[in-house]
Amino acid sequence: MTTATKIRAAELTRHFDAVHAVNGIEIDVEEGQIFGFLGPNGSGKTTTIRMLTTLLPPTSGSIAIDGIDALRAPSEVRRRIGVALQEAGLDDLQTGRELLSLQAHLCEVPTREVQRRVNDLLEVVELSEAADRRIKTYSGGMQRRLDLASALIHGPRIIFLDEPTTGLDPASRDSLWRYVERLNQDEGVTFFLTTQYLEEADALAHEVAIIDQGQIVAQGSPDALKDSVGADVVTIGLHGETEHSEELHRSLTAIANVEDVRDVDDTIVVYVRDGAAAIAPIVLAMREAGIEVRDVSLKEPTLDDVFLRKTGHHLEPDAATEDGVVANGAGA
Ligand SMILES: Nc1ncnc2c1ncn2[C@@H]1O[C@H](COP(=O)(O)OP(=O)(O)OP(=O)(O)O)[C@@H](O)[C@H]1O
Ligand SMILES: [Mg+2]
Repeated sequence: MTTATKIRAAELTRHFDAVHAVNGIEIDVEEGQIFGFLGPNGSGKTTTIRMLTTLLPPTSGSIAIDGIDALRAPSEVRRRIGVALQEAGLDDLQTGRELLSLQAHLCEVPTREVQRRVNDLLEVVELSEAADRRIKTYSGGMQRRLDLASALIHGPRIIFLDEPTTGLDPASRDSLWRYVERLNQDEGVTFFLTTQYLEEADALAHEVAIIDQGQIVAQGSPDALKDSVGADVVTIGLHGETEHSEELHRSLTAIANVEDVRDVDDTIVVYVRDGAAAIAPIVLAMREAGIEVRDVSLKEPTLDDVFLRKTGHHLEPDAATEDGVVANGAGA
């Protein structure tokens, strides 16, 4: 298989008056990749997806999907892509089966194939039994799965999913990811997706980009990104948030092999090569500074550490997640 660029954006920018939601980002996704787009709430993920899928015009920049200029030929692009947005735009009064059949007709699926395609997809998203119930009786997770099925109905080769697993229980998350993997591995479908769950992105994405305040701060394969941290992570838990003196920072930084020290809420995070050897001197430095240590842990870097080192804050899902789903204007 020769690889081709399926999704390309250059200097992509979107401002909403004073809000610079997306600021000159570059995106290149090769055929057959699962591309994970990660970032905290409000960082510009949904805005980017809406631009890439022709639902929102950019302020400036260019977009090519499957080599087609998305600004010049949006309907041609739409035929080639599947999109499931963060906020499912479902009609409560329809049944799941009716919605999928309608969607199939709208997407010009040949009439003789519609029924089989709908049944197959209902099976995949585990909604066969609920297919003839009205959508308003579905749980949040069922609605997400139905929305996903509707994005897949015309067999697109490029699929955009905005937080497909947010709000799903672990079992449904798992089955959704297995389906994504299967379409990717068996059929070479290209995926561009956002997720709040870093371990998922780590395990499944071939390439990830991390966006913060409308700008991409890191990009690469999960392994390369974690390697780029280049150190073990020693996390020191404290009793509450305390002011740490510059002197403490200086003495931590002076310990052999320490590369970086970060204060985050009630922890201090130390990036150090050969973390095991550094633990004793770190604890000693804390004691000399008169700061009581609650616990100390040593681990290999995660994608969250990549983000923390680049920006000084965490990328973990937070309490605002549930609000974010409701409050964000993902509807076209
Ligand atoms: N239609 C809009 N009008 C004004 N501001 C908007 C609009 N859509 C998004 N924004 C702003 O743009 C910024 C990026 O929003 P976006 O929805 O892209 O973030 P996100 O990364 O998808 O966040 P989340 O993780 O909460 O879904 C936010 O500050 C948001 O308030
Ligand atoms: Mg969003």
